[in-house]
Amino acid sequence: MLEPNGRVIMVSGAGRGIGSAIAARLHREGYALSLAARDLPSLQAATEDWSQTGGGAVSCHRFDAFDAESQNEWVADCVAGHGRLDGLVNNAGVIEPFSLTEFDDRGLDAMWEVNVKTPARLASLVYPHLLAADHGRVVNIASMSGKRVRGGFEPGYAMTKHAVMALTHATRQQWWDDGIRATAICPSWVETDMIDGVDYGAEPVIQADDVAALVSTALALPDHVSVAELAINCRREDLY
Ligand SMILES: NC(=O)c1ccc[n+]([C@@H]2O[C@H](COP(=O)([O-])OP(=O)(O)OC[C@H]3O[C@@H](n4cnc5c(N)ncnc54)[C@H](OP(=O)(O)O)[C@@H]3O)[C@@H](O)[C@H]2O)c1
Repeated sequence: MLEPNGRVIMVSGAGRGIGSAIAARLHREGYALSLAARDLPSLQAATEDWSQTGGGAVSCHRFDAFDAESQNEWVADCVAGHGRLDGLVNNAGVIEPFSLTEFDDRGLDAMWEVNVKTPARLASLVYPHLLAADHGRVVNIASMSGKRVRGGFEPGYAMTKHAVMALTHATRQQWWDDGIRATAICPSWVETDMIDGVDYGAEPVIQADDVAALVSTALALPDHVSVAELAINCRREDLY
């Protein structure tokens, strides 16, 4: 049986892709988890056996980036149910492809809401609980698209992921003296639904569990070993 490690972590977008891998890995490591997705029944079905393996308690919540009330409720329910909160993993994200020559206002607004405003709102909501817990952690799943802009690849997505980097550094600066540490994880290609249909070549790409392992490391490092950014690539690029 898994041993609980006493820490409670929230993960957004935990129903599939990278979020699902993060949830599974943190569960194996004994964390108690407050998981959220838009499709609550699917998330509940995917995790229903986890209580039989021991580890920390697992709760599931409905969460939609376009529904601020669902975010208030998630944080309130998490703390009411688990009694504390030690970390937030902002994983949920979307890509709305468009080029600057065919600008898409709606697409950019949607990405801004899901990729930037909601993680910032959630960080603000969890702050008092991280403060109370000591050694709070915020991990944002940014992207290599938050580190550089390459060719004509998805400029709107890159704009939002650069903003996620700014959010991470602002979090880190503002709450450092409160013992809260923030990390941005910046992968290039990760094999999930998000890159379905994208031609990323024949070489192996990053797997969701590889990202989960880095999230786990960021959560576990002590306050005096803070990693602000982790840039991860499966391809050679000039800088990364
Ligand atoms: N895949 C890559 O190559 C790659 C590379 C770098 C960074 N990332 C980042 O990694 C994170 C996870 O992406 P992924 O690769 O796992 O993609 P994915 O398989 O497409 O999953 C996207 C996740 O975001 C959630 N989400 C989307 N819109 C939402 C909304 N309005 N409200 C709440 N949740 C919403 C989805 O929830 P539902 O299940 O409810 O749709 C899903 O859990 C994202 O931030 C993404 O930008 C991905």
